[in-house]
Amino acid sequence: MAKDPQFHRKDEFYKQAKRQGYRARSAFKLFDIQKRFNIFKRSYYILDIGSTPGSWLQVAKKYALENLEKYDDKYYHRDHFKIMGVDIKKVSPIDDIKIIKMDITNQEFNNEINKYFQEKLDLILSDASIKKSGIKFSDNVRQINLCFKILDIVKENLKYKGNFVIKAFQGQDYNNFLRAMKNQFFYVKSYKPKSSRKGNEIYIIGQKKK
Ligand SMILES: C[S@@+](CC[C@H](N)C(=O)[O-])C[C@H]1O[C@@H](n2cnc3c(N)ncnc32)[C@H](O)[C@@H]1O
Repeated sequence: MAKDPQFHRKDEFYKQAKRQGYRARSAFKLFDIQKRFNIFKRSYYILDIGSTPGSWLQVAKKYALENLEKYDDKYYHRDHFKIMGVDIKKVSPIDDIKIIKMDITNQEFNNEINKYFQEKLDLILSDASIKKSGIKFSDNVRQINLCFKILDIVKENLKYKGNFVIKAFQGQDYNNFLRAMKNQFFYVKSYKPKSSRKGNEIYIIGQKKK
């Protein structure tokens, strides 16, 4: 969310988020990604990394609920959903969502995932971003380091053919990370949603984990 109130007043996505009850304009980045890649299809077990203030969790819950209604056939479906959000910062509670305040680089986090889901996940989302220092080179390196750590979590916990969305910064080491993604997923695409205004921010969508 932008901190400048003048900017907020002019920003259509911000207004739309407020009108529709979403906690941040970032909700529209995820809606845009969903429209293009249909990542939520048959997703019931979902982990959201870097959740504060919680708009991606709100969007994830909306689609998980829709999936419960939509699918009841011979293909993969469930009669319940499990969604977990994690952030270093506090996330205000959302009904039926497990929220954890933790740094995902803490080894303990993997235990938390296992304890809650007890099975592999359908979808992992990450909008996590480092706190920027303003020094572009080192910010890019730190963000991609974080991405690699998140990819380790994905390798361990995402099911075969599961989907993954992650925010990265284009720059130093970006291509290395893209290569690592291609080793893990059958389809990898990078995408900049319309509502993404930050310069080198980009989302990478990994579909169908190998
Ligand atoms: C852009 S915000 C997420 C916005 C959120 N997707 C939403 O729609 O409300 C990025 C978040 O990543 C979190 N983050 C960054 N590094 C993290 C880490 N190592 N572990 C957990 N959360 C982290 C930050 O605290 C920050 O709240």
